[in-house]
Amino acid sequence: MEERASKPNGIAVLMEFHNTVREKLKELRAIEQILVERDLSLQHDAVAKASEIAEYLQYRTPEHEKDETQTLFPKVLEKLAQLGEDETMVAQSVTLACDEHTGFRELWSQLQHWLWMITTPDALVSLEDFHFAIGAVERHMLLHFQREEQLIFRTAAKVLSHDELSEVAQAIYDRRAADIG
Ligand SMILES: [Fe+2]
Ligand SMILES: [Fe+2]
Repeated sequence: MEERASKPNGIAVLMEFHNTVREKLKELRAIEQILVERDLSLQHDAVAKASEIAEYLQYRTPEHEKDETQTLFPKVLEKLAQLGEDETMVAQSVTLACDEHTGFRELWSQLQHWLWMITTPDALVSLEDFHFAIGAVERHMLLHFQREEQLIFRTAAKVLSHDELSEVAQAIYDRRAADIG
């Protein structure tokens, strides 16, 4: 029983990223507030934190997308087919998720532009544009995560065994290691 509990779970690995991004988006909102209030004593740290978040989102989001599209998504569709269950809804949700991954890159470039601007001394920054760019990324990512969790992750948790979910986690770790190597 203890051994079962200690095995990694592919859904938990993916959820960790979703929850980290949710936290980072809240932090970006707090940073925006500091910039709006123009509290100079906090501004330097806020800008440093914003660029740290930008770097995290820029590099980790494509990694997370690969983790999903190369491991969990095909695994859950394969399992539904094996079980002879109707996979239409999940297949549609997977297609939508993949489209949204592409959509994120377009929204991201706008936010990245504004994040870059606020980290550039003396740049003329419109906080209103920054506000809208954060809002657009926030809406896109939060809805995307919600959709993935409600249908794809929930179905995966229902149809994949503990060992299969552990194999998904291992496939994610192997994929990341191969990318680095
Ligand atoms: Fe995704
Ligand atoms: Fe995701």
